[in-house]
Amino acid sequence: MQITGRGLNLIYDLNQEECTYGFKDITICLNPHEMVGIMGPSGCGKSSLLYVLSGMKKPTSGTVYYNDIDTKDYSISEMASIRKAKFGLIFQKHFLIEYLSVLDNVLAPVNSQRKEEVEKAMEILEALKISHLAKRRPGQISCGQRQRAAIARALINNPEVIFADEPTASLDHDNGSEVINILNKFKDRAALVIATHDKTMLKQADRIIDLWDGRTVK
Ligand SMILES: Nc1ncnc2c1ncn2[C@@H]1O[C@H](COP(=O)(O)OP(=O)(O)O)[C@@H](O)[C@H]1O
Ligand SMILES: [Mg+2]
Repeated sequence: MQITGRGLNLIYDLNQEECTYGFKDITICLNPHEMVGIMGPSGCGKSSLLYVLSGMKKPTSGTVYYNDIDTKDYSISEMASIRKAKFGLIFQKHFLIEYLSVLDNVLAPVNSQRKEEVEKAMEILEALKISHLAKRRPGQISCGQRQRAAIARALINNPEVIFADEPTASLDHDNGSEVINILNKFKDRAALVIATHDKTMLKQADRIIDLWDGRTVK
């Protein structure tokens, strides 16, 4: 899948008198098998850009194309189906369900306990080195392990694009680097977009887009 954003702007309307830019005039192309870093300080628009590229928010102006199709042509529910089927989303907070086991959290997006699905979930947990924790609940594992569980959940649908918003922000440097290494292994299957304020996490990026105050820095 190829995602292209042309001339994108996002304005948040705070109230009738006041508005603020999420980001301004961004043109970006995401290609398969590429790790793209979106870099910049807090408040520069990284999360906003990921929301728009993943179709969670509509841009105020400009166009997002999925495989050359203008996403304005899709309804909200069609967009949600595309996201569910094609995208893997990873956030700074893991958003795991506390009362489900790690394994059941990973299976939640596929909503199935079929043998093939369970085997696949276990394979992913194995690749992330947490298969031995499959039966535990999120409250019974470490922060870094929870982030890996959230990554496993994002990967269960074989996403074509993985959007990760500050996936390492709640981790120490070593755990953060390892999470990026793990994500990088999925580059042969998916495009990876990683937003972070920490440049040291983007050593493996094929491309880095620097944002400053909502704009790209050339
Ligand atoms: N829901 C919101 N309502 C109003 N302004 C927002 C909202 N979310 C983000 N912003 C503003 O948009 C700008 C970009 O924010 P954000 O995309 O969260 O940046 P980053 O992820 O780089 O920290 C900031 O000025 C922020 O205050
Ligand atoms: Mg953010």
